[in-house]
Amino acid sequence: MFLNYSIPFLRPGLSFIPPAHENDLVMACQGAINSLRCGFNKQKKHRSMARNFNFSAGPAMLPTAVIDRAREEMLDWNGSGMSVMEMSHRGKEFVSIAEKAEADLREILAIPDNYKVLFLQGGASSQFAMVPLNLLKDKKNADYLNTGMWSKKAIAEAKRFCDVNLAGDTSEGNFTTVPSQNTLNLNPEAAYAHYTPNETIGGVEFGYIPETGDVPLVADMSSTILSRPIDVSKFGVIYAGAQKNIGPSGLTIVIIREDLIGHPADGIPTMFNYATHSDSGSMYNTPPTYNWYIAGLVFEWIKEQGGLPALAEINRRKATKLYTAIDNSGFYSNPVAENARSWMNIPFTLSDSSLDAAFLSGAAEQGLLTLKGHRSVGGMRASIYNAMPEEGVDILISYMQEFEKKHG
Ligand SMILES: Cc1ncc(COP(=O)(O)O)c(C=O)c1O
Repeated sequence: MFLNYSIPFLRPGLSFIPPAHENDLVMACQGAINSLRCGFNKQKKHRSMARNFNFSAGPAMLPTAVIDRAREEMLDWNGSGMSVMEMSHRGKEFVSIAEKAEADLREILAIPDNYKVLFLQGGASSQFAMVPLNLLKDKKNADYLNTGMWSKKAIAEAKRFCDVNLAGDTSEGNFTTVPSQNTLNLNPEAAYAHYTPNETIGGVEFGYIPETGDVPLVADMSSTILSRPIDVSKFGVIYAGAQKNIGPSGLTIVIIREDLIGHPADGIPTMFNYATHSDSGSMYNTPPTYNWYIAGLVFEWIKEQGGLPALAEINRRKATKLYTAIDNSGFYSNPVAENARSWMNIPFTLSDSSLDAAFLSGAAEQGLLTLKGHRSVGGMRASIYNAMPEEGVDILISYMQEFEKKHG
């Protein structure tokens, strides 16, 4: 029966309805105390619960501080009495969240004023189509650099809309290198040139930004955005699925130079037209509000870490440690050319693949999760985005060394 009573000190603002009988009052108080205890216990359990090191390629780890803050704000954002999940995207509360997130991202990446930032849905995969649908204008050709599984997918989609010139192609070397600038076969008449600065599956990353002259450069930055400073002015379009360095899956960020907006292909669906989203502040329809909010918390966290220069330093150090451990062992190997090695996704194989399952289960016992390589390549892959603490990499290296001692 006490369940019917409100618990005044748990729910401020609600008036206490006195119970009809003394016994009920005792029960109500006991219930309230139990609820409080239960709340504290739960909180304590949550606080002391170990966070595992999750090496997933995406959705990937988020900074614990961000999740903790989201938890604190879950029921009541900033005294609004609402969860962000419940807010109208047009209400002043959410609009302030959205604007701050965009302002912070602009600050972090030093995005010039003549670029729009769009907060979209549809994943990076939708951009494989949106890019040709919006950038071809009256042209029929686009340049693509083929450096791995993700550029292959982008190319396959673009071929539905235009002739693709492979301006660079590393498939012969099994995608373990990046083409150097002087080998690129760029078409100065192309509508745009597309590349994938970091191939998430192969662990191959460009150490330079291709120079394409007047042809707008388009980058699928899904797995490298925010890992270091970049010069946005060198790009026509940057797009990225959020689920690696930005926030939860379901949000896609597009950073696009203004002059590239407003030239859609005939008959383009409204939602595939960049102008639709640019003209409406990404609120033509209901945007992924909660994901946008979490992305905003991640941007705040990045600023607190000292911005991208500070993160770049940590990311370089984490990656160097892991590659050094791999290269110094006779047991693990990474096939990628040294100048093309990713800071974010580090694939490696064991000298005896029959030990893969034992390696993975031993790792999981130590709280080192999701190290299995992509199903298309096998072996292992450690994705070490911004939110992976350096300690996680150190523990992984110790585990690898122990495992090698035992089985190598
Ligand atoms: C480089 C790259 N491009 C595109 C995608 C596809 O992204 P989405 O799943 O958001 O469509 C991924 C996903 O992991 C990726 O790593």
